[in-house]
Amino acid sequence: MSAALARSIADDNSLVDGEFAFTRENFTRIAALLHAQAGITLSESKTTLVYSRLAKRVRTLGLKNFDEYCNLLAAPESDEERGRMLNALTTNLTRFYREPHHFDHLRDNVLAPMVDKIRSGARLRIWSAGCSTGQEPFSIALTILSLIPEAANLDVKILATDIDTNVIAQGQAASYAEDLVEPIPAAQRAKWLERDTELGQWRLTAAPRALVAFKPLNLMQDWPIKGPFQAIFCRNVVIYFDEPTQERIWTKFEPLLERTGRLYIGHSERLGAISDRFVSDGLTVYRPIGQQRATRTVS
Ligand SMILES: C[S@@+](CC[C@H](N)C(=O)[O-])C[C@H]1O[C@@H](n2cnc3c(N)ncnc32)[C@H](O)[C@@H]1O
Repeated sequence: MSAALARSIADDNSLVDGEFAFTRENFTRIAALLHAQAGITLSESKTTLVYSRLAKRVRTLGLKNFDEYCNLLAAPESDEERGRMLNALTTNLTRFYREPHHFDHLRDNVLAPMVDKIRSGARLRIWSAGCSTGQEPFSIALTILSLIPEAANLDVKILATDIDTNVIAQGQAASYAEDLVEPIPAAQRAKWLERDTELGQWRLTAAPRALVAFKPLNLMQDWPIKGPFQAIFCRNVVIYFDEPTQERIWTKFEPLLERTGRLYIGHSERLGAISDRFVSDGLTVYRPIGQQRATRTVS
């Protein structure tokens, strides 16, 4: 059989018209792996997206087709490739001051009442869970600095975590193209951004950078994290998970929050069946009800 004929037979089963055949079985295997690893549910409407993000890996690895790629992903020694697949398939959309009302709420209801205590040495901890390329934790940092410009010299830390190691590296670099920094108010830009001459972009200065610690963390696995946090931001992350997984994640946040702590979630996310554990404190902002103060490591 000629190569061209073999190709056209393979293409008959392909869900996508492209360089490599991509069958329903290929899609199902990749979707199952992504769900098991990251909790992310992929609907079949994402077929073309999965193909386009992974075809480059098939080509770079010199594989013949997605069958070979799926076999590679399934091999026990393929941790690195599974990580690459995961990085390629996560949705990292974010921006500075996304859903700005959350940062006003944080400033007025969490930070402002604590300013004197923080200046006297009290601890402030905030977690950005699913931080993507860093715009969310840096928006939190700039909000803190707007009230306490010397915060980097105090006991103040923002933990920024994400499953995707590429976005963690971008957050650590703290350098953003001109159009990305536009949502930052001009006065804050003037004070806390500097020219990144190497990349021709804008970089957060040392003070906001010192406030944020970026770490890889998969919310589906153990969390080697000690509370308590005065605020947890987990926005537009669990939207890709099924409902029981979403509820499990929300439930695990509760003991990590201070009694007066706040949970900030995405505009289209809901607490669902566990909403009786929290009380609403504004638009997609919640306080835990009657919890014990969190002081232990939660896994
Ligand atoms: C759409 S972005 C949201 C970023 C930011 N929170 C915001 O609202 O602008 C979702 C982020 O969640 C991360 N993510 C997806 N599954 C995850 C998991 N199981 N554990 C940790 N992070 C995850 C993705 O890598 C991605 O960077």
